[in-house]
Amino acid sequence: MNENILDTQSEHQKFIVPLNDWKRDHSCGELTAADIGKEVCLMGWVQYRRDHGGLIFADLRDNQGLTQVVFSPEIAPEAHKNAHILRSEYVIAVKGYVRARPEGMVNEGMKTGEIEVVAKEWKLLNTSKTPPFAIEDRCDAGENLRLEWRYLDLRRPALQKALRMRHRIAKAVRAYLDEKDFVEVETPVLTKSTPEGARDFLVPSRLNKGMFYALPQSPQLFKQLLMIGGLDRYYQIVKCFRDEDLRADRQPEFTQIDIEMSFVNEDDIMSMAEGLISAVFKDVLKKTVKTPFVRMTWKEAMDKYGVDKPDTRFGLELIDVTGIVKDSQFKVFSDASLVKAIRVPEGEKFTRKEIDEFTDYVKVFGAKGLAWIKIRENEWQSPIAKFLSDREREELSEVLNLKPGDIIFFQSGKSEIVNAALGNLRVLLGEKLGLIPEGELNFLWVTDFPLFEFDEEEKRYVACHHPFTSPQEGHEEIMLNEPQNAFAKAYDLVLNGNEVGGGSIRIHHASIQRKMFEALGIDRNKAEKQFGFLINALELGAPPHGGIAFGMDRLVMLLAGAKSIREVIAFPKTQKGSCLLTAAPDFVERKQLAELGVKIIEKTD
Ligand code: AMO
Ligand code: AMP
Repeated sequence: MNENILDTQSEHQKFIVPLNDWKRDHSCGELTAADIGKEVCLMGWVQYRRDHGGLIFADLRDNQGLTQVVFSPEIAPEAHKNAHILRSEYVIAVKGYVRARPEGMVNEGMKTGEIEVVAKEWKLLNTSKTPPFAIEDRCDAGENLRLEWRYLDLRRPALQKALRMRHRIAKAVRAYLDEKDFVEVETPVLTKSTPEGARDFLVPSRLNKGMFYALPQSPQLFKQLLMIGGLDRYYQIVKCFRDEDLRADRQPEFTQIDIEMSFVNEDDIMSMAEGLISAVFKDVLKKTVKTPFVRMTWKEAMDKYGVDKPDTRFGLELIDVTGIVKDSQFKVFSDASLVKAIRVPEGEKFTRKEIDEFTDYVKVFGAKGLAWIKIRENEWQSPIAKFLSDREREELSEVLNLKPGDIIFFQSGKSEIVNAALGNLRVLLGEKLGLIPEGELNFLWVTDFPLFEFDEEEKRYVACHHPFTSPQEGHEEIMLNEPQNAFAKAYDLVLNGNEVGGGSIRIHHASIQRKMFEALGIDRNKAEKQFGFLINALELGAPPHGGIAFGMDRLVMLLAGAKSIREVIAFPKTQKGSCLLTAAPDFVERKQLAELGVKIIEKTD
């Protein structure tokens, strides 16, 4: 054979042979010095081929690791003969024996680093074109390129590890819930729209032209109907669909660990959830999680941290200074209904450029600016220092416990903006100053959520969780008369500043559910039309019930130490909601649209 001619993948294809009766007996990640002398058969992908003084080396990879294979002209001339055709990602099977690597060639960093497999025979099972990026964890290819070739990306150890961990988490969840008598029940995917706050994905019905199914934002109503159906304890690891703006921790289709229980109160659900989470961490990470988790009311979270999912691993709490500056000469403060401050120890070192970056950052949350004061030994340095009286300085010093070297950031205005701006700035500062301890797991229940929030766009109250959440005892009337003061039997589970779960006790009386629809401005007719089935069910012996849903992708992300949920989903979508691998969404044939009775309105903008 002339080597020079056979230099391309297409020419190598003629060497491909069938697997026939060859059986793999070891993975590429398990052979150690204890196996020296063993005859083995390995199968996998060629990571690299190197030629060294007559010997040919190939690192063979599968989902368990890498093993070095040696083709030697002295030991197995036949096996060596064609090994120079091997290229990255060629698929081969090798039979040979395990031997110790020569002195000085041992790779301590690798499980199989002490040994190599000397090939006696091998088969080419498939060739590969040159992949668009190298299949290794150090891969520096951009995310979009990796998503376009996701199956190649999946060969990388990091993704293999993440998906294995995901599987183990799902298995631990099922084992725990099965043990506690929960039953996994599947609920429909083609369903009726239920309001969870996001936009629905709609599916046109061919048999009922002009009508649409909605993909479930969650199985909320079905799990309640299962309780009314007497199932008592339900769970499901289930896909949910929400057409919302995407971020690192949001996907248009994502997975929930969805749970519902009958004859329970909030404490029952929270302790079940703590048991489940502890079991998962124990099983998957061998970590003991301290229970019960700390609880904090929504109000305290908003006051101290500005957000309803505070990261409590570090301080930098928000302090209300409205009272101190209410008569200030600085109009930005005295005109505002709320002024809050964050004291940042050692923040005096921030440069103007950094402060400008923080100012730009808070503007994303609606802030108009960001006032600051640097506390120096003998002066307060700030564009606003001249407006502050001695009394204001004294009181600020005391309340904020100011020390030379600090910087204070202020935000004034509407509470929503003040909280969002400072709450998010706090996290940025915590990251920048390295205040967030690695490896710590801070679980936190946020409780006592308001029942409603005011939707500025729609100019009406909407449910803070969803419209099936029970008001707190005695809030059934407040709900209609003073909606802003009504609180819910709802709770969120937060882990290190991430909302990993949320749930509530549900309304199980038809009369209260009707009031809820009224409070939300849904008139009786519309409520009957949209939710008649639920009202009927509540009138037919609905037990008290409640539940919770965990964001499975977020949990896996946090357990795996990944930065985005896309890293723990086999085939995720981009920020724009597209699948770069299959090119979905896509246009469809005119005929398909006609069958569905759907017409496309061309874009006019
Ligand atoms: P909720 O809307 O809070 O509650 O959702 C529960 C959990 O699901 C996760 N989550 C998401 N994860 C990834 N991408 C998304 N787009 C996304 N949206 C939500 C979050 C969240 O805490 N039916 C109720 C639960 C109940 O009341 O029992 C519900 O869906 O981690
Ligand atoms: P101005 O008087 O608008 O020039 O603002 C004076 C200083 O106050 C600047 O440093 C602004 O960034 C800051 N500032 C403006 N609006 C606010 C606000 N709502 N909260 C806190 N600081 C603000």
